[in-house]
Amino acid sequence: MMMRFDIITIFPDIFWPVLNESIIKRAQEKKKVKILVHDLREYTQDKHKKVDDRPFGGGPGMVMTAQPIVDAVRKVKGRRKAKVILTTPGGNPLTQKHVKNLSKEKNLIIICGHYEGIDERVRLSVVDQCLSIGDYVLTGGELPAMVIVDSVTRLIPGVLGKEASLQDETFENNLLEYPHYTRPANFRGKKVPNVLLSGNHKLIQEWRKQQSRQRTQEVRPDLL
Ligand code: ADE
Repeated sequence: MMMRFDIITIFPDIFWPVLNESIIKRAQEKKKVKILVHDLREYTQDKHKKVDDRPFGGGPGMVMTAQPIVDAVRKVKGRRKAKVILTTPGGNPLTQKHVKNLSKEKNLIIICGHYEGIDERVRLSVVDQCLSIGDYVLTGGELPAMVIVDSVTRLIPGVLGKEASLQDETFENNLLEYPHYTRPANFRGKKVPNVLLSGNHKLIQEWRKQQSRQRTQEVRPDLL
């Protein structure tokens, strides 16, 4: 099954250097995902191709107007069923749980927010979910859209290699991942913990579990 992403943005060119590399590039080649980027300005009815205006009630900055976005979403959606996401620092914080749920959808439409915000009637008429990628403010929703495409795509069956383990990954079981080591066994005096060289899988598993808990306690006690 192929998942389709439609991204609606005023900066259509900035996606490809990121999305046409590595795993996301291969996911497209393997037809696991299809990514389409739409230039919002092509949908505006304004003769100067404007997509923003001054806020009613006054205040600084500009607000994205409803018409181009609502028309773009309707046109892009057509008769398909699609979940419509708006990227905004005022949305629900994106977690691996959202990502997992999104990976089960067939069609995702992502609207990239800009300026001071978006006319509230966009949310009221076409948006299903507002998502923030963290408690900080970016210049626009393009990076968040890429974050969503990337995190969702890697969970689609067949995108990662067979041995990639999604079970032990950070955030599974609400724990951060245990530390990893590879060769050499001694790197400039810093040695790999003996247990990892022991070949005793039960002990290794216990050690990793304990390390995961300890790390989570130190770095992200809020997860416990
Ligand atoms: N747009 C600006 N900042 C953002 C954030 N943190 N998450 C999602 N969209 C945004």
